[in-house]
Amino acid sequence: MAEIKVDERLTHIAFIMDGNGRWAKERGKPREYGHSVGAKTFERVIRYCGDIGIRVITVYAFSTENWKRPAAEVKAIMTIFREYLNIARKKAEENRIHVMFLGDKGIFPKDVQEKMNNLERETEKNPLLLNIAVNYGGRDEIVHAVNTLIREGKTEITEEDIASHLYTAHCPPPDLIVRTGAELRLSNFLLWQSAYAELYFCDTLWPDMGEADINAAVESFYARKRRYGGV
Ligand code: FPP
Repeated sequence: MAEIKVDERLTHIAFIMDGNGRWAKERGKPREYGHSVGAKTFERVIRYCGDIGIRVITVYAFSTENWKRPAAEVKAIMTIFREYLNIARKKAEENRIHVMFLGDKGIFPKDVQEKMNNLERETEKNPLLLNIAVNYGGRDEIVHAVNTLIREGKTEITEEDIASHLYTAHCPPPDLIVRTGAELRLSNFLLWQSAYAELYFCDTLWPDMGEADINAAVESFYARKRRYGGV
């Protein structure tokens, strides 16, 4: 596969990792199997994005709405998440990644919250940024930001006030949002930050996401003109 390189126009790429369940079903396996293969794909995609020069990667791992799924599936995803937290420090050092979490951590057990906080702190010197959105919802994030501003005593707010109180305050907005799994929507992902993001949808189910799909998304991005409302 011919490797491509990105420049500063494509700093931040975000992924909606959709299609794990269908991928498993096509193989006569339980949905949980799709998520565990999806977690391996996640590792592969992160590595490849780093290789082609992406500096910020965001993945949508678990939404505020995903708790409505059957208990067994939620439990399986949480087990995958815990397993990831156990090896994340080593992986992050290998790939020189600073890991940050987007979303309300308060819902997770204390030990998991501690692992998330430790990982954020221990990897903070690494040059590449990986945001993992867990218990994340775009609307929830905006409400959370506004409530924080109210607590700070603000009576009138600016766009900058909101942007600087979002979970993503530490990074630029996404340049490109890629959704796998043939669904054409954002599903409450980065609602504020996506205002001028380029969107790319593909039919590939997340476990099959590979270098060719990423290259196609990047090529599609570079074929577009970004005008940010100008001419
Ligand atoms: C969407 O596919 C996927 C999820 C809700 C879970 C994604 C989680 C992972 C890939 C594991 C990531 C792990 C880490 C450590 C970040 P779906 O279940 O909605 O698929 P479907 O549309 O085919 O049903």
